[in-house]
Amino acid sequence: MDGTPFRYWDHQLFCDDADLTDIAGAAGTPAYVYSRQGIVKRFEAYDLALAGIEHRVCYAVKANSNLSILRVLAEAGAGFDIVSGGELFRVIRAGGDPARVVFAGVGKTRDEIEYALESGIHGFNCESEAEIALIDALAGRLGKKASISVRVNPDVDAATHPYISTGLRDHKFGIDIEQVEGVYQRAATLPNLKVEGVACHIGSQLLDPAPLQEASGKLLALALRLRTGGVPIRYLDLGGGWGVPYRFDDPRADLASHLGAIRAMVEGQGFTLFFEPGRSIVAECGVLLSRVLYRKTTPRKEFIVLDAAMNDLIRPALYDAHHEILPLRQPARGTIRADIVGPVCETGDFLALDREIPELFPGDLVAVMTAGAYGSVMASNYNSRPRPAEILVEGKTWRTVRARETFTDLVRGE
Ligand code: LLP
Repeated sequence: MDGTPFRYWDHQLFCDDADLTDIAGAAGTPAYVYSRQGIVKRFEAYDLALAGIEHRVCYAVKANSNLSILRVLAEAGAGFDIVSGGELFRVIRAGGDPARVVFAGVGKTRDEIEYALESGIHGFNCESEAEIALIDALAGRLGKKASISVRVNPDVDAATHPYISTGLRDHKFGIDIEQVEGVYQRAATLPNLKVEGVACHIGSQLLDPAPLQEASGKLLALALRLRTGGVPIRYLDLGGGWGVPYRFDDPRADLASHLGAIRAMVEGQGFTLFFEPGRSIVAECGVLLSRVLYRKTTPRKEFIVLDAAMNDLIRPALYDAHHEILPLRQPARGTIRADIVGPVCETGDFLALDREIPELFPGDLVAVMTAGAYGSVMASNYNSRPRPAEILVEGKTWRTVRARETFTDLVRGE
């Protein structure tokens, strides 16, 4: 928990200066709670480490797209990395500047490309030649020149969960580094494009900086070769992917020294650096609050049944992800070993398996930690469960930034 906005104060778990028990009492559970200050601090850590070199930190909207969080980041000066028209709509709604938006993704539709062109985004990170041709055609029709980068697949093993590793030759992402120079030469002849960037993103939750630095080195070398070949590359987009310690005893890698190493690599060569961090900005600034409904003992096991489930936070079920779970009131009691599960009708509905945890009883409140990224955005209505409320803490005050869904919300549009 060190280095996060969460700490015990007089045996009660706080987010900054707000007592989470008060929030749970007033807002109900399950509820996501985020720290405004924590988010700004993490964004500024990127900005600070890159000060003095042309750069843009484009927050990856997919990690947490709540309008209030986007607004906080827009006010802090962030750009945005989007992967859909819906995300662009959110950025604009939140007051983000479209001119600071990069649009990634393997399957941009015609409508999405037009919307992005009309909104005046900074540029597209393209993932296939067919997409490049489509952007050129649509830009021509709208009388615009579109700035593009090609997302390069650098064939670097990101050493993370296979579902969120993206930089190997077998993955659907990017254009193979062996083939990409031809793609650049052909794209450079298209009339409605400015071909001016090289991009990559090799995966997410990376705890070792080595693969990120290897990919950056490959990208830089490519950008220099392209320049020599007459393609005036100005932007190097090194993606996101910086991981966070989900286990409190995991070591924390040093972001500033990682960014320093990349900076040393590219400094003085006239590139503007782009990064697309998501998780490292918001993950540790959010928790999912939940209440214990039941304790249940079978001949083999102990279960703690919460009111939060896999539909609220799917990461444990989907990626075997570990999230620490803390009682909001630090107990004087001993510990038990239990599976911590939700009410959904699947054995895969768990938040923790075989976890040693302070003894909990029905009515007790817990926080599922490190849930600010890929938590609420991946929530669903499975089992017709309304999605949780979302709360933003600022100092000792807090407000609801997304209302808990109602039963009427569940059937809207049916
Ligand atoms: N840029 C691109 C092109 C991406 O695909 C992603 C994440 C990011 C940036 C941001 O990566 P980050 O800094 O957050 O690692 N749902 C999964 C994570 C999926 C990540 C998808 N792409 C999870 O819960 O772990």
